[in-house]
Amino acid sequence: MTTRCYPKGLPRSGTPPSFPRRRGLPQKRKIRDVNKVVAVSSAKGGVGKSTIAVNIALSFARRGIRTGILDTDIFGPSIPTLLNLSGEPRLDDKNCLVPLTNYGLKSMSMGYLLPPPSPESTITTSDPNTAPLDTTPISWRGLMVSKAMNQLLHSVSWGPLDILILDLPPGTGDVQLTINQEVVVDGAVIVSTPQDIALRDAVRGYGLFQKMDVPVLGMIRNMAFFACPHCGKQTRIFSGGISGQGHECQDNSGVVAACERLGIDFLGDVPLDARVCEDADRGVPTVVAEEGDDRSARRNAFLNIAEKIARKVGLEWK
Ligand SMILES: Nc1ncnc2c1ncn2[C@@H]1O[C@H](COP(=O)(O)OP(=O)(O)OP(=O)(O)O)[C@@H](O)[C@H]1O
Ligand SMILES: [Mg+2]
Repeated sequence: MTTRCYPKGLPRSGTPPSFPRRRGLPQKRKIRDVNKVVAVSSAKGGVGKSTIAVNIALSFARRGIRTGILDTDIFGPSIPTLLNLSGEPRLDDKNCLVPLTNYGLKSMSMGYLLPPPSPESTITTSDPNTAPLDTTPISWRGLMVSKAMNQLLHSVSWGPLDILILDLPPGTGDVQLTINQEVVVDGAVIVSTPQDIALRDAVRGYGLFQKMDVPVLGMIRNMAFFACPHCGKQTRIFSGGISGQGHECQDNSGVVAACERLGIDFLGDVPLDARVCEDADRGVPTVVAEEGDDRSARRNAFLNIAEKIARKVGLEWK
């Protein structure tokens, strides 16, 4: 039996697809059957990229726009948790991975492709309500990461999609470079929180897209303010300032000022809200959890940003 060299965990059944050997720099190509590709990115970790990516993707999907989300975070995939999905994807007759779907949104993630945790790497307790802890590290060298990325970019059977959202990992490293060299990205959205320390890295993320000739559609300020559920006061926890009840406090320094200096659009604020985090953790993102509540500020924040993105890439916002 021949042993073929695939990144560990890709895919566990059927015949894995093969990639032709290429010489020289890769040629950018369109992802098959996908009309528009938008990357949600920030060089800074933990600023809410995945939360925003999934809520934006769901804003599209719930409006009947054919949407997929590709989790390109090989080392820390979040989409399976956010969409409450697990299990190994099937391979179709062309040996392409068939996306898993929830809430009308198609998804693919390295998280679906990893082998189940072994008992040795799992920490359990006697309490049946406490989830086991899987300590298996995903520690691959660059070549393995590029191979995995190649498969995720070129061997998924999306079917016709109007838009594919890429949830990028933090940084400006291998994954970001592979994506930008391999596929046509129609636009990038940069996420920052209000702190200078996040903004500084977010701006570096902008620089990468500029260098790779990917249009930057604008910047989103996540965790912009905390709206107290008890008294209604808004507090800009990360940039100072408290406003009166019912008034949105203005803070046009930081992210907004950076957008002006970079000549890109400010796409909007997402509030810091415990419900956004809770919804994410239980796998029912806010856009779905609060569907039907037209007055939900959290949900509307995501919808308004999604609408701006749709218009910028020329999709009809239905
Ligand atoms: N607006 C928000 N309000 C409350 N919690 C939030 C908000 N945005 C994100 N979070 C929470 O912050 C944490 C980090 O978010 P998330 O995983 O989306 O960040 P990320 O930028 O994708 O991280 P990474 O760099 O690791 O990929 C999560 O627990 C998420 O639920
Ligand atoms: Mg993430």
